[in-house]
Amino acid sequence: MSSYKQQDIKKITTHQLQEMKNRGEKISMLTAYDFSMAKIIDGAGMDVILVGDSASNVMAGNETTLPITLDQMIYHATSVVKAVKRALVVVDIPFGHYQGSSGEALRSAIRIMKESGAHSVKLEGGSEIKDSVLRILSAGVPVMGHLGLTPQSIYKFGTYTVRAKEEAEANKLIEDALLLQECGCFALVLEKIPAELAKKVSSQLQIPVIGIGAGPDVDGQVLVMQDMLGINKEFKPRFLRRYADLHGIITHAVQKYIRDIKARDFPNQDEKY
Ligand code: KIV
Repeated sequence: MSSYKQQDIKKITTHQLQEMKNRGEKISMLTAYDFSMAKIIDGAGMDVILVGDSASNVMAGNETTLPITLDQMIYHATSVVKAVKRALVVVDIPFGHYQGSSGEALRSAIRIMKESGAHSVKLEGGSEIKDSVLRILSAGVPVMGHLGLTPQSIYKFGTYTVRAKEEAEANKLIEDALLLQECGCFALVLEKIPAELAKKVSSQLQIPVIGIGAGPDVDGQVLVMQDMLGINKEFKPRFLRRYADLHGIITHAVQKYIRDIKARDFPNQDEKY
């Protein structure tokens, strides 16, 4: 019987993601924010784990992603990195920590990389953050782009509806995608845009394009873990497929636990010292 060895696990790199796109293999990506869930997700074989600033919503209970701080993102990322043996870990730079100047962006990226041990960072936006992207890349930190619905700009958009339906916005998105590739981003997330536009971007770009609500013709898919596992029941966009009903399973288990305590059934003879 062969024993499990650390060196048996092949770590996913940005280079491997590029090879996956080149050979037409779809890339899997899911968010995680804590050690225990990251361990399960990594062990299941996920290619990329995103420590998303969606932690602001699903972990901290905020309405938007704007309030989460850099320290809080580093806390989540540090817990995730400790659990991960195989996946590439990408961490969102939160709102207000890269828009001010490229120097601020670099300092934020370096803090994330140094303090959490993550492998790359993600920033929202196109031409307006070009200098920040270039500065971070110049320090040797891999950058993932994010275009389309960019939740950090929710107060500019006013709604979480599909982006880039109009020609002008679609053209700007294509220009920004090409720019981010030219800058040296290793991959790009496209959120909530028409499937045809996402297909066009993915076929024009050499780097992997990961979609969320961007249809099937991109190089990979990403979802928020609480949504796809059915922990968060209220959020029901059309693009979301639920793979479990953890809300139901957890509620059932917790109610059974409460009943057992009340009925003096827990702990029993075998469960005491
Ligand atoms: O923060 C996040 O979870 C994200 C995904 C929705 C792509 O950016």
